[in-house]
Amino acid sequence: MIRVGLIGCGFIAKKHLKTLTRFDEVTLVAVSDLSHKNMREAVDLYQIEGKRQLSVSFFKNYQDLLKNKEIDVVIVSVISGLHAEIAKHALKYGKHVIVEKPLALSLADIEDIEQLSKTFSKKVFVCHQLRYRPLLQKVKELIQKGYLGDLYFGMASLRLNRTSAYFNETAWKGTWDKDGGMLVNQGIHLIDLLIWLMGDVQSVYGEIATKIKNKETEDVAAGILSFENDAKGLIEANTITKPKNLGYFLSIFAKEGSICIGGKGLNKIEHAYFENAPELKEELFQVSNADEHYLMYQDFLKALKSNTPYLMTPQEGKRALEAIFGLYQATKHQQPIQLPLTDFTTKSMRD
Ligand SMILES: NC(=O)c1ccc[n+]([C@@H]2O[C@H](COP(=O)([O-])OP(=O)(O)OC[C@H]3O[C@@H](n4cnc5c(N)ncnc54)[C@H](O)[C@@H]3O)[C@@H](O)[C@H]2O)c1
Repeated sequence: MIRVGLIGCGFIAKKHLKTLTRFDEVTLVAVSDLSHKNMREAVDLYQIEGKRQLSVSFFKNYQDLLKNKEIDVVIVSVISGLHAEIAKHALKYGKHVIVEKPLALSLADIEDIEQLSKTFSKKVFVCHQLRYRPLLQKVKELIQKGYLGDLYFGMASLRLNRTSAYFNETAWKGTWDKDGGMLVNQGIHLIDLLIWLMGDVQSVYGEIATKIKNKETEDVAAGILSFENDAKGLIEANTITKPKNLGYFLSIFAKEGSICIGGKGLNKIEHAYFENAPELKEELFQVSNADEHYLMYQDFLKALKSNTPYLMTPQEGKRALEAIFGLYQATKHQQPIQLPLTDFTTKSMRD
């Protein structure tokens, strides 16, 4: 049996708990949150959903949870600004770590996590669940097999509406030190997918702006990426779309085809063209666009049990963050930034 401790019992924790109940070999043994109510709700959900009446310990201080020697795996689903601190402590206590996106808010923290994971021989798994969505896996496979030919241009668009109520309901949202910025919070899945599909980023230029002054962080961002394979990329993102969310859009344009994905949550192929294999269009339309959380946990648990490689390593979790950090740095210095970066923390955006 794999024994799990959950730190942070808010909105996304519920998704983790519901998914965990689908794995018989996993059991929740402890939770931690500053709010007793949130811990109670999370455990009730787990017990009702999983039809399990096991006893689960509650800890207000996450360090006490980490001291529990029974726990094999810690899920870090607290506010973003605490991910790195908690992941590092968990590794030192000899736990495997599943950490929500973003992995960290600084490059130094990412390096520390990578190092500690090696030192203590414990796995760190970053929750970029969309990479596991069958539809997006299929797009990746088609690109890898060369059905689109050379990649020319990729575009990530985020058009959301985040009201003042959204920023007021939790103090951490919209702050550079606890949230990390719009691209780090709302944009990271999309940017991660763009890079995963297009390839490594060589340089990035961008500008950000804060149009509605109800937060510290940006609500508009425009970025240009140059990929190592000579392709170009564009990021356009905002959380000021009126009157409500339009959604997320990802487009790939290549020598022998093009694919555009949209829908409310990147769940719909809006266009697909394969010059040399037109039958693939229909195949792509048939692929499921659900169950990525289950598939993500399946990958992690397999890696844990058989010590096999897994997709969402810290190195992979770093890729989108480095591009976003580069875009933030480009804004500060008003010039294109070459990757890899040597140093960056979102806190520096306060200056
Ligand atoms: N993968 C995804 O698609 C996805 C979706 C939503 C959120 N997230 C990420 O999950 C994280 C949490 O987001 P959320 O929407 O659940 O936020 P939330 O505000 O609903 O929950 C955060 C929880 O952390 C708790 N917390 C704060 N400080 C703590 C501490 N010191 N110890 C223990 N608990 C503490 C809060 O009390 C709260 O219950 C964020 O980093 C966010 O980026 C990921």
